[in-house]
Amino acid sequence: MTGVTIAFPRADFSRVLYAVFTDPRVHSLEQERIFRGPSWLYLGLEAELPNPGDYRVTMAGETPVVVVRAADGTFGAFVNRCAHRGTLLVRNQFGNAKDFTCVYHHWCYDHKGNLTGVPFLRGLKGKGGMPTDFRLADHGLERLKAESYAGVIFGTFDPTVEPLADYLDRPMCAYLRRLFRKPIEILGYSRQRIPANWKLYYENGQDAYHAGLLHQMSATFGLFRLTEKGGIAIDKHARHKVIHSIHGSDTHREAARAYNQVGYMDGTLRLNDPLVFDFRDEVGDRRATNLMRLWPNAIFQQLANALATRQVRPRRHDEFEIYWTYFGYADDDPDLRLRRMKQANIVGAAGYSSMEDGEACRLVQVGIKGSETAHSVIEMGGLGPIVA
Ligand code: FES
Ligand SMILES: [Fe+2]
Repeated sequence: MTGVTIAFPRADFSRVLYAVFTDPRVHSLEQERIFRGPSWLYLGLEAELPNPGDYRVTMAGETPVVVVRAADGTFGAFVNRCAHRGTLLVRNQFGNAKDFTCVYHHWCYDHKGNLTGVPFLRGLKGKGGMPTDFRLADHGLERLKAESYAGVIFGTFDPTVEPLADYLDRPMCAYLRRLFRKPIEILGYSRQRIPANWKLYYENGQDAYHAGLLHQMSATFGLFRLTEKGGIAIDKHARHKVIHSIHGSDTHREAARAYNQVGYMDGTLRLNDPLVFDFRDEVGDRRATNLMRLWPNAIFQQLANALATRQVRPRRHDEFEIYWTYFGYADDDPDLRLRRMKQANIVGAAGYSSMEDGEACRLVQVGIKGSETAHSVIEMGGLGPIVA
C-alpha cells in the first residue's frame, strides 16, 4: 500500500492530528509497517507452554498466530492460516498437539509449520491429485521469527529487525528480568474490547498526567498519585517506557492539599476490604506501581501485588482488544496469592482503574468524529522531541 499524507500542524510533537485515529488507510499502513514490519511483538509466556507440543493462539496485530513449543524446547510461531485455502488452522485457544491438521481438507503441519501431509496427493485410482511438481516443502505455514527473553516470547515478521535485547534496550530488559526473576504460575485471563483506536491506549499509557486524576480510586487509596515520588525510564529510541511510583512517599495531607480542586480526597472514604489496594513490598524498593509499555503491543504490570501482561490487539481503525494474562510466582505464600487474586480487580474490563482508561479512549474516539483535521494539544511537561 502506498503512503497517506497527513500534515501535522506543528513539528514539535505537541499536536496530534485526529485523522491518525480515524483513517482506515492509516490503520492498514500500521499493520504493514509496524506489526508486519521491523518490530518485536509480544506473543506469550514460556510458562504457558511448559511441554513439547504445547501451543497457544495469539495475535500479531490483526494477524492470527500460533506459538508452539517444539520437541527440542525451542519456540516456533506461525500465521494461523492453512496454506491451502487460508482457513484458520488452530481453533482452540490452548492445547497440546503432535501436529496440526486443517479441518477443511486435512492438510497436516508439524510443530515447525512444515506441511507434512496432503490427502489424495496422488489422486484416486490414478486420476486427479496434485501436479507432479507439487512439493510439500514449498507450502509450509508463514513463519515468524520467534525468540524469548526472561521467559517472554516475542515474534517478528521482519528477519532484518535488530536483535531482541537491543530492541528492548537496557531498562526494559532489566524490568523483564526483575518481573520474571523466578518461576511463575498463570492465574487466569481476561479480555476487553474497546471501541477506540489502539494508539489512544498507547498515548494513555504515556500520559502519567491522567493517572493521578482519572483514576480516583488509585489516587484516593495511595496506589498512584501525582504527589508521590516516582520515575520514568525510556529506551534509546523513546519507543518503550517504564514508570514507577514509590509507596508511602507522600502523606495523605500533602495529597489532599494538592488535589483540593478535584474534591474527592477529603479523607472520609474507607475500603471495606483494604486488601484490594494494600501493597506488600516483595522486592524491598517500595515500588507499588511498576508498569512497562513495550512498543507496539505489550504492557507488563505490577500494580500493588497484581502481576499481569497485557497484549494490545488492534482490530479495526476504531476498535482494539486488550488480552490480560494474570500470574503469580510458583512459590507464593497464601497471603501473596490472595492479594494477587483480589488486586487483579484493579485492572481488566471492570477493573477499578483500567475500566476508566477504556472509557477515556472511547470518549476520545466519539469526540473526534468529524474533526479529522483538528488535533490534540500535548504540552504538559514541555515541547520538542523526547530525549532518552
Ligand atoms: S483449507 Fe486447509 S486443507 Fe484446505
Ligand atoms: Fe490509566
